[in-house]
Parts: sequence; C-alpha cells; structure tokens
Amino acid sequence: MSITINQPLDMHLHLRDEAMLKTVAPLSSHSFSGAIIMPNLVPPVSTKEELLAYKERIIHACGSDTFTPYMTLFFKPTYTKAFLESIKDELTAIKLYPAGITTNSEGGVSGFEVETLRETLEAMSELEIPLCIHGETNGFVMDREAEFVSIYEMLATNFPKLKIIMEHITTKESVEALDKFENLYATITLHHLLITLDDVAGGMLQPHLFCKPIAKRPEDREALRKVALNAHPKVMFGSDSAPHPQHAKESCGCAAGVFTAPIALQVLTELFMEHSTLKNLQAFVSDHAKAIYNHIKVPHKTVTLEKKPFVVPAKYDNVIPMYAGETLAYSILEIKG
Ligand code: NCD
Ligand code: ZN
Ligand code: ZN
Repeated sequence: MSITINQPLDMHLHLRDEAMLKTVAPLSSHSFSGAIIMPNLVPPVSTKEELLAYKERIIHACGSDTFTPYMTLFFKPTYTKAFLESIKDELTAIKLYPAGITTNSEGGVSGFEVETLRETLEAMSELEIPLCIHGETNGFVMDREAEFVSIYEMLATNFPKLKIIMEHITTKESVEALDKFENLYATITLHHLLITLDDVAGGMLQPHLFCKPIAKRPEDREALRKVALNAHPKVMFGSDSAPHPQHAKESCGCAAGVFTAPIALQVLTELFMEHSTLKNLQAFVSDHAKAIYNHIKVPHKTVTLEKKPFVVPAKYDNVIPMYAGETLAYSILEIKG
C-alpha cells in the first residue's frame, strides 16, 4: 500500500546560511512544497534587503526543486506600520523570540509590556501578518513553556485580530490554551510527538535530541499526539528542523536543535499509521497550514511513500540527523511536481 501526500508544508524550518544552507535546503525542498523560514541568522533577518537577499540564497540552494520559502522577519518592537507596509508582499510572518532564550535570539524582546509592543502588533493585525512566537520564559527549564502561557493569553486578549502561532509547543498547558483563544494556533514538531525527556537524558545523554523547548513528560507528549493525530484544525506541522554542525552538538556545551528534515515525512507516516489515523496526516502536514496562513500560495507537489525500509544516513555532510544509521519503516517512493 502506498500513501500520497498533497503539497506537504513545513511551517517552522531553520535553513541557516552559506555551506550549511547548501547542505540542508535541498533536503527540505526535495519533499516539501514550501516552508516557513526562521530568521535567526547572525545577524537576524530584520530589513527588507536582508530578507530578499536571504530568499534568493535559499532559492539558489534549492536548485530546480519546486519549493516556496515563506520568509519571516525577526521581530523588533520598533517596526512601524509604514515599514511593514513596504515589506508586506515579501513577508509571510514575523517571528518573536524572547531575548537570549534560544539559538541566536540575543536581539529578541526583553519585556512583554503591552504598550511597548502595541504599535507593531496593531500594525501587524491590520496588515494581517501572523506573529510566530518561541514561547518560553527564563524560569526553570521544565516550566518555561507553561509559564509563558499567561503571556500568550495577554497577547491574544490585547490583540484579538492578530493571528498568534505558538511555535513548537511541548506541553499540555499550551494545548489547552489553543481552545481558549480564537486567535491562538500552534505548530508541533516531529520529535516532540516521539520523544520525552527520558529519551534525551534518561540514559546516556543524547545531544542530537537536545532542543529548545526541551522534550517534556509522557502526559505532555500524549496531549500533543492527541491534537496532531486527531487533526485539531488549529494545529499544523512545523519540524523545527534545526541543524548544527556535528562539533557543535557533540561538545561540552551542546547547541540546541534536532535535525529532522530528511526523515520527517517518513516518520510522520509511520506514526499516523501506527495510531490508525493516516486519514488525518494530510490535514496535519498541509491543509491546516493552508487554512491558517490563508494568504500563501502553495506550489503543486505530491509525495508518495511506501512501506519499505529506509536506512537513515549517518550524516549529511557535517550534520547528524535524528535516527542516524537506523532503519525507518517508510520510504519516499515518488515525488511529482
Ligand atoms: C533552534 C535553532 O537552532 O535555531 N533550536 C532549537 O532547539 N529549536 C531555535 C529555536 O527554534 O528555538
Ligand atoms: Zn524556537
Ligand atoms: Zn525553531
């Protein structure tokens, strides 16, 4: 039996730059129709010139693949309505990072006072630009996301017309917030549907599974699975595939990020199949994203998978993927478009 996915989308992706971009971009552009591209380069993408130049470099790295990079800017509370109007047509969303909370987020937001954020967030609401957020406080590592829910609620209430995407949610508290506020949505990664903190640190420490937010408890994973596998309409796939060179992961002071781009569709197929929810995979990896990001144009592409062993390469250049060297149950059979 084969499974065909129409226009797969990855709504949270790190493509980096230079040599790393050349290594990883084709691994996404091969099997996805498009992806939301995170702006946390050094320095972050925060001007129109930087955004357009980065988009060109991405398109170049994707070669002849049919793939649309949906570009984002790194949020700053100094963005004016005039500036946003001038860039609106090139931009799909704006990504907000609390200062210093994750990789390359030092220039992020250091306080969440409504008045400081109001001008930019009201302009985004009026121009219908969604706000993507890495939602963690600087509290105790296991509590950071749950503590951030009150900030999501404050933003959702004060800016009711702003679409707010809670990125890479990992807790049952975030899942509950989805149904409380009309304008809150979420992405969920592959790895947070699969692993808990036990897989990261319960035995020998696994640097390639270390990411922000850290994987949580079994009951949190259960809450994520429930909404992803059952096609909750406010939830979409965002891999948060976040490559770092091997030396930065296997080192004293391991960089945060799991590299999943080359295995995402194969493993999602297996997961949905195991839970007898295969009919919902299309909604999770494409349809919901199209409905939530209702301004995007998605190029035609179909990806057909089949039950056939796929041995995950040990490395892609100097990057180690999740499940390196292991055998997956599903392979990509054919890509059209
Ligand atoms: C991401 C990265 O490396 O850019 N790392 C991660 O652990 N998820 C940043 C992010 O998405 O927070
Ligand atoms: Zn993040
Ligand atoms: Zn990310």
